[in-house]
Amino acid sequence: MQVRKTNNSTLRNHIFSVLILIMFLSSFIFAQNNGKTKITADVDSIAGIIDANIYGQFSEHLGSCIYGGIWVGKDSPIPNTNGIRNDVLEALKKLEVPLLRWPGGCFADEYHWMDGIGPKEQRPSMVNTNWGGVVEDNSFGTHEFLELCEMVGAEPYISGNVGSGTVEEFSNWIQYITSDGENPMANLRRKNGREKPWKVKYWGIGNESWGCGGRMRPEYYSDLVRRYTTFTKNYGDNRVYKIASGPNVDDTVWTEVVMKNAGKVIDGLALHYYTSNGKPAAQFEEKGWFEVIQKTLRMDDLIKMHSAIMDKYDPSKNVALIVDEWGTWHAVEPETNPSFLYQQNTMRDAVVAASNLNIFHDHADRVKMTNIAQMVNVLQAMILTDNEKMVLTPTYHVFEMYKEHKNSIRLPLNINTSDYVYDGESIPSVNGSASINSKGQIHVSLCNVNPNQSEKISISIKSFENKNVTARILTSEKMDALNSFDNPNNLVPTEFSDFSISKDKLEINMPAKSVIVFELEGKITSNIGAAIDVKNPKPKLEFKYHKGYFSNLPDFSILPVVSDGLIEQIKIPDESESSDFLVRYSGYVKILKDGFYNFYANSDDGSRLFIDGKRIINNDGLHAPIEVKGFASLLEGFHKIEVEFNQGGGGMELGVSIEGPEMKKQIIPANMLFHESK
Ligand code: AHR
Repeated sequence: MQVRKTNNSTLRNHIFSVLILIMFLSSFIFAQNNGKTKITADVDSIAGIIDANIYGQFSEHLGSCIYGGIWVGKDSPIPNTNGIRNDVLEALKKLEVPLLRWPGGCFADEYHWMDGIGPKEQRPSMVNTNWGGVVEDNSFGTHEFLELCEMVGAEPYISGNVGSGTVEEFSNWIQYITSDGENPMANLRRKNGREKPWKVKYWGIGNESWGCGGRMRPEYYSDLVRRYTTFTKNYGDNRVYKIASGPNVDDTVWTEVVMKNAGKVIDGLALHYYTSNGKPAAQFEEKGWFEVIQKTLRMDDLIKMHSAIMDKYDPSKNVALIVDEWGTWHAVEPETNPSFLYQQNTMRDAVVAASNLNIFHDHADRVKMTNIAQMVNVLQAMILTDNEKMVLTPTYHVFEMYKEHKNSIRLPLNINTSDYVYDGESIPSVNGSASINSKGQIHVSLCNVNPNQSEKISISIKSFENKNVTARILTSEKMDALNSFDNPNNLVPTEFSDFSISKDKLEINMPAKSVIVFELEGKITSNIGAAIDVKNPKPKLEFKYHKGYFSNLPDFSILPVVSDGLIEQIKIPDESESSDFLVRYSGYVKILKDGFYNFYANSDDGSRLFIDGKRIINNDGLHAPIEVKGFASLLEGFHKIEVEFNQGGGGMELGVSIEGPEMKKQIIPANMLFHESK
């Protein structure tokens, strides 16, 4: 059962009197024990979408991440589905993992994918030189990985071998997985038992090419990126999203050179930053707590630093900054193989996870994907296993608590918090982030990094009236609390109720070293999306058809109209030519329920979508089908909708979808579209 706090005035008065009493008493008892934090936000300043892939994971052939942690083989006594352990699978499904990176890491640049396909007994073995020199028998290969992704419901992200591989090997891998045609690689895949191709959008052009991936200089690497991306082909409707190896921590020269020389041919640049700490994960005093949290907060500066360079070469933010390795890197657990990077995970790691996720949300305009290292049994893992036993770590619980932020609209927070001071140095006590989902619920996630002091927090959100608030907390008495195989539920989220609400404020007593996620239900009172009075609405939109070849969408007002008419939905008019034309649709979309709506424009070539005169989607350019998402907060009633479409040649496609309160994602149906009859 969930504790739900309701804003009703009798209850409020009652709570108020009790609060006054508690405050009076606590001013004696806890006089030095409370910091103060003031948080404000404004629904009118919503900014972009928090990409679900920020919650991506990483699985490498390293230690017992794959073998033992995920893959036990079909004949194992550990319950499994086609070789993948069931307990881990269930835990990952519950986490709703959006994306999984594989096969490395450093392993990727010595992995030859053809060794990992075909009958198991014929697959050659190799030595995993990066991680302990163990024998890799290649029993978990491309098919097994992609089946794992299908079972979990995660998108695959494959890192190709640039360090010791060839362009041919890389491009053959893409053909093997994604092509439905008659060619050697697709035929080989069919021979190996998979008729239909998989879709794999995300491909890494090497890993840490400045280090274990080949010790390259950025000039040389950027040339390789240009070469490799030339041969990353799109088969059918699979569109390859190319991710270049990015900077190591603060190597701004790498970012500068790669963006300058190869920024136009990539979709993402991968930053790696670990919170490294050469000491054990679960034995530390406050010094160790402070140092690790202080180091991890550096992620914010690193993102700002690299984003500033990317802004110079890519002001429209077409290239994403992808933090595809991050997390704590402690000393390995005693009596474990030092090359296997197996570490425990405590309340401190939970605070690291929460703080980083809050930072990533703050940079959602540039950071579109991150992959914590690693999913099972390695570094800051979600899951630890020991033969048939499995335990979920505090980090897992943070990811689970935060999952409502995925694909929601970022609501920026202004946080004015106290300092957590240790040994003359200070960091902010509270960090946080917030988002609004398509049901209009606001989720606020807060992290109090101070291990000694609770925090009195007030949150006011302009243009939002609180009605019901629920919350879950992850906290512990001890900084080094953890979940062990003998005590797996020592640190798990529980309901949190030490807060009060009024219409416009939330007052919280946030315990020391804690992570809390609030779910706020209420009313959005903002002016955004006020409905328009349409005098005489009639079904269908108006469209105007123009001729001409443009590489980008032009100013439609100066184009001569070749023909016009009414159309039920936003689709390419039947009588259109096959190339060199443009269409502009205009009219009204009828919204039945107040709330946040996501819109999606999928087009080949360019398109733009405007709601109430504001451009919310820019999918411009000459390209294969690409879907771009935008959002709007809309009140019930009519809203102006305009779509511009350009067909420059080759394939052509146009579809505009909507998703909102009690509405699954769907092509905007004809019964929502109108024009004004004169
Ligand atoms: O995650 C462990 C290793 O850290 C990865 O293999 C490598 O990319 C990074 O240095």
